[in-house]
Amino acid sequence: MTKPFAYSIKEFNAVRQKIRALTGISLADSKDNMVYSRLSRRLRALGIDSFDGYLDYLDANQSETEHFINALTTNLTSFFREAHHFDKLKEYLLSHSGPVRIWCAASSSGEEPYSIAMTCAEARGSLKNNVKIVASDIDSGMLARAQAGIYPIDQVEKLSLARRKQFFHRGKGGNAGKARVVPELRSSIVYFKQNLLDADYAVESGIDIVFCRNVMIYFDKPTQEVILKRILDKMKPDGWYIAGHSENFSHLTHLMRPLGKTIYQINRQSA
Ligand SMILES: C[S@@+](CC[C@H](N)C(=O)[O-])C[C@H]1O[C@@H](n2cnc3c(N)ncnc32)[C@H](O)[C@@H]1O
Repeated sequence: MTKPFAYSIKEFNAVRQKIRALTGISLADSKDNMVYSRLSRRLRALGIDSFDGYLDYLDANQSETEHFINALTTNLTSFFREAHHFDKLKEYLLSHSGPVRIWCAASSSGEEPYSIAMTCAEARGSLKNNVKIVASDIDSGMLARAQAGIYPIDQVEKLSLARRKQFFHRGKGGNAGKARVVPELRSSIVYFKQNLLDADYAVESGIDIVFCRNVMIYFDKPTQEVILKRILDKMKPDGWYIAGHSENFSHLTHLMRPLGKTIYQINRQSA
């Protein structure tokens, strides 16, 4: 099929280089069609007729960087994805009665931090539970969706009746077919924009648990190690790092040791 916008391996490689420099994301050779379809929307919106032209526009317009990044991030997520992590979080909360601080470091559209917040409320029997949750992502569009906390009803219907009743309001009128996270749960999470590739993280030190799931997979191994060290620097000496199902840190046992399925505990002495 012919493509409406001029696009060759040269432009694909230029996009790859640019997104990698900006975010750390390494796009495999097989992602050329994905890049074409996601960025075509930007070309259409801007009235640009070739990828070459778009790349020139990107270089000349700082404000396009955010759109470029938002278009190329993959944001797949769901409530209670990898449910065993939330069982472990509950165990942690039941055995630690004091204040707990949690950072969700690639929060996408919010299902993950809200799953964390629901688990905390259930484990401690209240929405006022002495757990501080902060959540970040590089994608400003996803952060806005997370803060709004509005989801299609079919997504929310997968949750138990008890969770739906306690944590969601069903939309009416113009919002029929959607459900919104209750204000008390929404306000229990502080969202901020954070590129994990940046040298400074806008998060206070002393974090007990980091959820950093299904994002490291997009970075190469040296980048993963740099980012992991920066995250661990923000954590308590016995903190937990929770990874995604396909993220393996067996080559970084000097930094943290496995504690369970894709859950690690910091090795502070050697970190
Ligand atoms: C596949 S989603 C994972 C969402 C969630 N953690 C989960 O496991 O369900 C990956 C997220 O990582 C974010 N991301 C990609 N590169 C990033 C970077 N350099 N810094 C921060 N977030 C990034 C994307 O915007 C996206 O929302």
